[in-house]
Amino acid sequence: MAKILINGGQTLDGEIWISGAKNAVLPILFASILGTKISRISNVPHLQDVTTSVELMAQMGAGISIDERLRIEINPSLLNRHEAPYDLVKTMRASILVLGPLLARHGRATVSLPGGCAIGSRPVNLHIHGLELMGADIQVKNGNIEATAKRLKGARILMDLVSVTGTENLMMAATLAAGTTVIENAAREPEIEDLANYLIAMGAKISGAGTHTIIIEGVDELGGADYEVLPDRIEAGTYLVAGAITGGRVKITRARPNTMDAILDKLAEAGAKITCGDDWIELDMQGRRPKAVNLTTAPYPAFPTDMQAQFTALNCIAEGTGVITETVFENRFMHVQELQRLGADIQLEGNTAIIRGVEKLTAAPLMATDLRASACLVLAALVAKGETSVDRVYHIDRGYEIIEEKLSQLGAKIKRIQIA
Ligand code: EPU
Repeated sequence: MAKILINGGQTLDGEIWISGAKNAVLPILFASILGTKISRISNVPHLQDVTTSVELMAQMGAGISIDERLRIEINPSLLNRHEAPYDLVKTMRASILVLGPLLARHGRATVSLPGGCAIGSRPVNLHIHGLELMGADIQVKNGNIEATAKRLKGARILMDLVSVTGTENLMMAATLAAGTTVIENAAREPEIEDLANYLIAMGAKISGAGTHTIIIEGVDELGGADYEVLPDRIEAGTYLVAGAITGGRVKITRARPNTMDAILDKLAEAGAKITCGDDWIELDMQGRRPKAVNLTTAPYPAFPTDMQAQFTALNCIAEGTGVITETVFENRFMHVQELQRLGADIQLEGNTAIIRGVEKLTAAPLMATDLRASACLVLAALVAKGETSVDRVYHIDRGYEIIEEKLSQLGAKIKRIQIA
């Protein structure tokens, strides 16, 4: 077990690079098992969720090798087990992304049904329903989703609500189905487009990824591909908020600013001077205290739920009152009680947090509850007077690689300690 210790009060100033996107690399790794040939995936972040995905694919028999630059080579031709067991699924819900590829390529899959999680109940009914429309027979037995299909067939699927991994699972499954699949009300996240580009590189026929309607013409076989994962817009946004909350200046490189409009608009509204190139962003608060912002989370291109906690932290020390409404997950305010322990003034009313900015926060021992909540606690600790400890940092390691190193490089006083 480890803890992160942060001594607040440093104004951040410096430059760091952004890693590959967690929520793009996970579906891409699972999509590789749709192929008959080797794929090589680069710009892979060193994250616990990547390790879990690789372990899962290795358990199923796929040949996996990882080089010193963390490029992952997957040979799917040896895969001979079709099961994602509870032990792994319970540590990473994204394991549900093996369902579509296994079913499409091998005609069967047994995937443990993910339970609820800290941020909401997160059912997978849309994944199951879409696959059934494509002709799969699906039973839920003993906590497992058991799916079989001779060959999936193309279908018109109208998603009741916008689901990122739901869209990804169905898009992957449809690549090998007989006939054309149309996914309506598809999620439009950049990670969906990235997955589609990888599938296209493997030989899939997909159009419309990144729009509400994705059309997939099934093919008989997919090969492999060499593919570089897109940069992580949520990691990028988190470090920009670190700059903003401390009144500092942060430049991030190897980023994709054109996937971050909603985040950059809110940072500008908070008083940051933002300058962008094709693959870099510089945020400069010029020593000023941020201004409170109001925002509502919603699917892309609106403001991402994965940045809600970080902006809640920003509002805690901002000038004025900010109102944040979470519409994607029903229980994504677990960080509020922890922020209050630092002296934040937050009132929760259902899915809305009313945050009255205070001039200073003071250090306290804190407990992380989920990935983005833990990032928000680290951000708040950067401005809290004294030494804050953040416990249960395994949540952070699921989505931020070398966070202490990156923040240290920007001038933060942060370290990780091992505890018994
Ligand atoms: N939903 C259903 N039924 C379904 C699927 C989703 O009711 O079958 C509901 C969910 O309960 C939720 C809403 O639809 O209320 C949207 O959930 P979505 O399916 O889009 O979420 P997800 O695919 O499980 C991905 C990311 C999350 C991110 C959300 C929203 C991955 C691996 N995970 O989850 O990332 O918050 O989209 O953008 O891509 C994170 O990185 O911290 C994280 C939680």
